[in-house]
Amino acid sequence: MSHYRLQHHFWNMGAKMSESSPAKFSVRDVAFDFDDTVPRYWHSQRRAVTIFFNNLSTVFPLGERFFIKSVAHYRAAVEDDEQLRAEVRAFTSQEAIHTREHEAYNDMLRRHGVDVDGIERGVARLLRLPRLAGPLRHRVSLSATTALEHWTALLGHFVLADDTRVLDGADPRLAAIWRWHAAEECEHKAVAFDVYTRSGGGYLVRALVMLMTTMIFWARILQQQWMIMRSDGIAWSFAQWRDLARFLFVEQRILRLVPPWLAYFSPWFHPWQLDDSALLERWREEHAGGLRYRKRATRVRARVEPTPEPAPLPGELSPV
Ligand SMILES: [Fe+2]
Ligand SMILES: [Fe+2]
Repeated sequence: MSHYRLQHHFWNMGAKMSESSPAKFSVRDVAFDFDDTVPRYWHSQRRAVTIFFNNLSTVFPLGERFFIKSVAHYRAAVEDDEQLRAEVRAFTSQEAIHTREHEAYNDMLRRHGVDVDGIERGVARLLRLPRLAGPLRHRVSLSATTALEHWTALLGHFVLADDTRVLDGADPRLAAIWRWHAAEECEHKAVAFDVYTRSGGGYLVRALVMLMTTMIFWARILQQQWMIMRSDGIAWSFAQWRDLARFLFVEQRILRLVPPWLAYFSPWFHPWQLDDSALLERWREEHAGGLRYRKRATRVRARVEPTPEPAPLPGELSPV
């Protein structure tokens, strides 16, 4: 529970926010296997629970490309900040690798009969919504990115925290990708936010976009849960919905995420006011070494325009 208690300096209005980010993180060129030996209901044989994780995976490739593109648009604004520029590069590479590995994950879902393409068409439509803001569309895209990065960091923290047992009973291969993604979301959680503030982004847009993004995101996840459960033949199963509700609200007490989500609405918010350092340290000690790193350098390029700086990735690169 204490992990969710914000540090006492949270309300310290005088804190200079950029100083609170440790922001040292690596790019890990890892690979995961999603072959047919992975059980279809890989999380404890619980169908709706497994589908909930799979559901989140289906939004990552398009979502993370959107993040990369939104941040890349403001690259010029951080040109004079060497540290932040390096962080943007590492953030871009991490997200591009997440995209690649979740595409492999989602290919497994396709083999299981999930209509990933149909889901992605719906996600793509939502990601075009910032265009409605006309001249403000890039600002809105970046603030939607900071909002969703706050969510991914909160969920990541939730997965790594020791008072939750989110992945207990999960297939170890799938648990590994979720832990890795959770850790890296925590590592780079302040990058988009720092670009947002450094490029002159203000409080009002940030807060309003968080409200809208949260509603749209969770409504979409619920809709997709329904879609995937329907393709699995359990959309009308009260027992399955009850099992999912029990997992989220009783076993995991996911509503614990509400207070740190609300913290985002402080004008003095900075992502590192919720300190993940100890959790990350432990993940690096216990899990990072067990990952399978690609042997040869691979080029990871996000399929977005403008194209982010190419990131040659020979295994684990040195920290930023
Ligand atoms: Fe990611
Ligand atoms: Fe991220």
